[in-house]
Amino acid sequence: MCGIVGYIGNKPVIPILLDGLTRLEYRGYDSAGIAWLDNDKINRVKAEGKIQNLYARLPELSGLVSHLGIGHTRWATHGEPDEKNAHPHSDCSNDLVLVHNGIIENYRTLKNMLLSKGHIFRSDTDTEVIAHLIEENLKTIPDFFSAMKESLNTLHGSFALTAIHRKYPDIVLAARKQSPLVLGLGEGENFVASDVPAVLPYTKNVIFLDDNEIAVIKSDSVRIFSLNQNEEVIKKTNVITWSSSMAEKGGYKHFMLKEIYEQPSSILNTIRGRITADPPQIDLYELSDFKDIIKKISRIVFIACGTSLNAGLVAKYWLGRIAGIPVDVEMASEFKYSPFLGNSETLYIPISQSGETADTLSALRLIKENNGNTISICNVLGSTITRESGATLYTHAGPEIGVAATKTFTAQLTALYLFSLYTGMLKKHLDNETLNKKIINLMRISPLINAKMPEIHEQCINIADKLYHYRNFLYLGRNICYPLALEGALKLKEISYIHAEGYAAGEMKHGPIALIDKDMPVVMLCPPDSVYEKMLSNLEEVRSRKGVILAITQDRTDMPLATYKISLPEVDDPDLIPFLYTIPLQLLAYEIAQIRGCDVDQPRNLAKSVTVE
Ligand code: AGP
Repeated sequence: MCGIVGYIGNKPVIPILLDGLTRLEYRGYDSAGIAWLDNDKINRVKAEGKIQNLYARLPELSGLVSHLGIGHTRWATHGEPDEKNAHPHSDCSNDLVLVHNGIIENYRTLKNMLLSKGHIFRSDTDTEVIAHLIEENLKTIPDFFSAMKESLNTLHGSFALTAIHRKYPDIVLAARKQSPLVLGLGEGENFVASDVPAVLPYTKNVIFLDDNEIAVIKSDSVRIFSLNQNEEVIKKTNVITWSSSMAEKGGYKHFMLKEIYEQPSSILNTIRGRITADPPQIDLYELSDFKDIIKKISRIVFIACGTSLNAGLVAKYWLGRIAGIPVDVEMASEFKYSPFLGNSETLYIPISQSGETADTLSALRLIKENNGNTISICNVLGSTITRESGATLYTHAGPEIGVAATKTFTAQLTALYLFSLYTGMLKKHLDNETLNKKIINLMRISPLINAKMPEIHEQCINIADKLYHYRNFLYLGRNICYPLALEGALKLKEISYIHAEGYAAGEMKHGPIALIDKDMPVVMLCPPDSVYEKMLSNLEEVRSRKGVILAITQDRTDMPLATYKISLPEVDDPDLIPFLYTIPLQLLAYEIAQIRGCDVDQPRNLAKSVTVE
């Protein structure tokens, strides 16, 4: 997820670009850059790190008269987060610059074609390919708009793009496919941005571009066309009523809630470019150098903390079933207290959203001292853990601002599930027919969650109102839902400050059942899977001791003994249950914390990344 701004109008452009990028910094902050047209020349300034690093690079602005420019703040997905890979990117002639948010899945093929035509690349990004592609098309299509349109129609993947060209000083072009873009309509000036906060100080009148639309933005007009046909599209102008602060959260009250709702797209973005649906195939190209190692391994060890540890515990079930591999899941902070027992057939997988967690990093360093094989699962390109791992399978969840991990958890599940399928395929433990079916079912998870999120949320709001006053909770799950019980308890603990414990349901009779009484709500994960009947027995045990039961189960199941019920839709493949059953756990914790007046985005005593051991 990156931040894009563009401007054309009657004011000096650079202050507007910098202000817009600052308001979008929550979308990504590992590098930034701006470009503007001045006296028939395109100027560019880029800097690694936060936007304020740009200021130091800018020339004296007072004499500057430019009124046309674009800017970008980056969340790296392809290419290290350094100045070379910072946007804006240009073509060979520096006549054209553009900024991009999204993932171009076929960039390697296009780059090879352009290299063969003599194009010289200056970065490792997928984005730069688009600039050279437009330059190449301008050789035969002598019109910036048509050449850009032609280029965009050869891209696979997602993009929100804004571009300017030295020879077209009166227009900004902007196009979108599956990544957001909004146009701000001013008086004698117009704006384009990834999100509303960047334009709100200047205008409340906006047009949201839809997929496969391209806009021709002038200082006194905005026209929008379909990328697929030649027709002009007439769009509604919206008047934004949000405050700037609410706008940064996309209209949501908290970043955490926004990130919970972003999960359909973060799951999809983590899948993107790694599977094809027709024919169904897996290609984890980042692990291509590890194929032989993966074929040989006889054991996998996950090392992580907190929510990332819970993701590893879920993946333990997948790798056992899908790839026939035994898995140990090690708490990073405890890992170093046991003798190192790995060998060349062991693969160590650190899982870390931030890539900076000290406990996980020190465990990784211990593994490397013993020449262990390592592949990390991480959300931050170029973070320390990724730089010190043999390879990294990235999640593409974008920046997670809320301290409680939500979208990065399901993005980790996505990466781990893809890895499980990939390993099962390489070790020939998974036949092609099953693999194909699993890939198709995985593609359905994102739209399913997207469709059902509002009604799941509605149920959680109602139940939170009945449970928020209790002081202790027990979360119970069996099989692949046991790690979800741990994760649900962690979410409630860390944002509502209620004591909550996740437990394997089968373990309840070995002690925790003594806790059950009318003051103990028990959240029970009861999907209709192979252990459903056993969960019903646990439910009766709790009920007979007057426990307050919240059953999270499938729509059609009848739960007479449950005090409360959250109903979820059917999941095609039991292996995919964790994706859907995580959602109510996150929303229930969020709504209870809200009622209790807790600081949901910055809970007390917590940090987003724990960089101390
Ligand atoms: C989870 O909601 C917490 N924010 C915390 O447990 C977190 O998962 C843990 O600190 C690990 O962080 P990492 O994934 O960045 O390594």
